[in-house]
Amino acid sequence: SPRRTTDHSGTRSSACPAPALFTWEFASDPYPAYAWLREHAPVHRTALPSGVEAWLVTRYADARQALADQRLSKNPVHHSESAHGKGKIGIPGERSANLMTHLLNIDPPDHTRLRRLVSKAFTPRRVAEFAPRVQELTDRLIDGFVEKGEADLIHEFAFPLPIYAICEMLGVPREDQDDFRDWAGMMIRHGGGPRGGVARAVKRMRTYLAELIHRKRESLGEEGADDLISGLIRASDHGEHLTENEVAAMAFILLFAGFETTVNLIGNGTLALLRHPEQRARLQHALAEGDTGLLATGVEELLRYDGPVELATWRFATQDLSIGGVRIAEGDPVLVVLAAADRDPARFPDPDTLDLARRDNQHLGYGHGIHYCLGAPLARLEGQTALATLLRRLPDLRPAVAPEELRWRGGLIMRGLRTLPVEFTP
Ligand code: HEM
Repeated sequence: SPRRTTDHSGTRSSACPAPALFTWEFASDPYPAYAWLREHAPVHRTALPSGVEAWLVTRYADARQALADQRLSKNPVHHSESAHGKGKIGIPGERSANLMTHLLNIDPPDHTRLRRLVSKAFTPRRVAEFAPRVQELTDRLIDGFVEKGEADLIHEFAFPLPIYAICEMLGVPREDQDDFRDWAGMMIRHGGGPRGGVARAVKRMRTYLAELIHRKRESLGEEGADDLISGLIRASDHGEHLTENEVAAMAFILLFAGFETTVNLIGNGTLALLRHPEQRARLQHALAEGDTGLLATGVEELLRYDGPVELATWRFATQDLSIGGVRIAEGDPVLVVLAAADRDPARFPDPDTLDLARRDNQHLGYGHGIHYCLGAPLARLEGQTALATLLRRLPDLRPAVAPEELRWRGGLIMRGLRTLPVEFTP
């Protein structure tokens, strides 16, 4: 099929054709293709697998600017319905339902109001106090497979950890958390699975959340309700509160945004450590000495090096504008490629080298600007706890399959493994 690198972007012409994007081979290592784009077509219009055409922004400086550009809207009014329906921010059956009126899909001033209210309940302090629970959950999951000497780290570890963590934080009772695990499983299989199943899972989750929120509101006066849903119900700003719908949409986006991302941080991060034995040994040594500094910079580096979010969520030009000297027309979808920006040699020396001690590491893995990840403190806590505990409890952890056997999950926005089979001494 004809490639549209030079005709649309009009930047520089090149004899090389643009690399094939979003294929299976591409998914296992997209970085060479992104390096090509950064160099030859840094703002590149391409047809996505869905058929929708969108602009890809791959250089760090352009990406950072685009993420903060208020002329790029999250509002589906600014683009064709088809782009929204086929993008990953749209969930089948939920396009117009109220769960989708959440932070990632709205602009100021609504975004400002909602973000301010949720920030009053979802505080760094609440996350810090949650640390012992995350450690317990992590240990409980490892207890579940440690005797076997082998495990699929995605299915048995990376996948359940964030779901249980968010459920606990929201205040979903223990006995209902496995239902959430099942619904989340349906949603993460989204890429290949039956769409009807996803819609059903989302519907069940919505009904459940509505009832739970209702119950929590009724019992708000009673002592002890210190969970995040009760916090969201209570949160007020100049006398303003969240409506029950807004609380439900907020709980849903916390689950949705905080789930597959964290699965991928643990999965991609563990894989990167397994592939860099010298870096991993350094980290293991530091942890054994009780030094957590390298763990903190290391998790940031893993986010930069092979982060969970490959492309930021959809944005749409509300007017004609230019990015990196390329004209974008009003209504055009713009996708900021975080994975490409975070390997830009103009910003990061030796960008393709994993350096757990890297300083000056202002990566875009959590985004930038007003939509900067609200859950970053929780993600850091979970990522650091998961990786440190794996290395401590399974010191000879190793992959159980050859690199070419690893399969990556399809899907535009996220980057993560389907499975990660490992072996270790029980
Ligand atoms: C937004 C990454 C974990 C909640 C974002 C964005 C990115 C991101 C890139 C911005 C997307 C855009 O601008 O299009 C990540 C990564 C995570 C992670 C890499 C894990 C390693 C979490 C967790 C939570 C969370 C654990 C909550 C429990 C959110 C929310 C937003 C968001 C609510 C929307 C904020 C807004 O629009 O104002 N995240 N995230 N994330 N994230 Fe995360």
